[in-house]
Amino acid sequence: LWKIQTFIEETVQTIRAQVGDKRVICGLSGGVDSAVCAALLVKAIGPQVACIYVDNGMMREGETDLVRHTFRDWYKADLSVVHASEHFLAALQGVTDPQEKRKIIGRVFVEIFKNEAKAIPDAHFLAQGTLYPDVIESGGSKDGPAATIKLHHNVGGLPAELGFELVEPLRDLFKDEVRRLGIELGLPEDVVWRHPFPGPGLAVRCLGEVTAEKLATLRKADTIFLDELHKAGWYRKTSQAFAVLLPVQSVGVMGDGRTYENTVAIRCVQTDDFMTADWSHLPHDLLARVSTAIINRVKGVNRVVYDISSKPPATIEWE
Ligand code: XMP
Repeated sequence: LWKIQTFIEETVQTIRAQVGDKRVICGLSGGVDSAVCAALLVKAIGPQVACIYVDNGMMREGETDLVRHTFRDWYKADLSVVHASEHFLAALQGVTDPQEKRKIIGRVFVEIFKNEAKAIPDAHFLAQGTLYPDVIESGGSKDGPAATIKLHHNVGGLPAELGFELVEPLRDLFKDEVRRLGIELGLPEDVVWRHPFPGPGLAVRCLGEVTAEKLATLRKADTIFLDELHKAGWYRKTSQAFAVLLPVQSVGVMGDGRTYENTVAIRCVQTDDFMTADWSHLPHDLLARVSTAIINRVKGVNRVVYDISSKPPATIEWE
């Protein structure tokens, strides 16, 4: 049986031995893995950790505040929050191809992160929340096509570019172990139980060209959906849930008038490993509440559809 306290004690010692009195940069993404990695480092070496969080403008509602509150206010960590949404939006202008969007977001992220890292003197290490499944996935042993269907940029890339040595304290762990570790380290439930979120964020859920206006619409719909899931006690029962803004207008009726507005798709899946997934059989009354709330409260949306595709052949994300 995996002993969490023993793991923490041993890992704290290993981290201290590895980094000595040097500083360690730790990128926070808003996700569980990087949060647990940072919390563990803060426990091990306190102010020697410099956390960097890049708000690329593609984050979910409240994500930046949650990171700031958790790490700056609660852990008293040294955290830089970089507001870079304009950079990302400018680079994405006119781009509609999903892989191209991912590449651009990855490239701009590295540029910004590099700049920020340069501003931290005597940083010798870069900490990453790489888990055991990530190690397997990026180890070249993956001859299945899944790794290349979508370009993921959260593993690799950065360390080579920056010339830092890596600190990867979660390398031997699975997701459920990371969650237990997070709770043990005092991270809020909101952080520990967060659904995974892709690196390129809402950009790949805003089909076609990404604009600030579309992102705002999508973010509102997404928040309503997640709130309803939480209220109904379904959030923890599902693996991933989100809204997608489709580049499809359709006819509707509002009062005496005809509308011609956007469509939001709702996606919710059950999965163990994200390689295959089934769509969640959410109760109809919950779906009804989500649909009514989105159409009534999100300007520019007059239709909501529920995605009933499994993976394969569909993927979880729409792009
Ligand atoms: P798909 O859409 O391939 O997604 O079925 C499987 C899981 O991977 C996440 N995903 C990404 N994560 N960068 C990431 O860090 C990406 O570009 C990316 N694309 C998909 C997706 O949210 C799901 O959890």
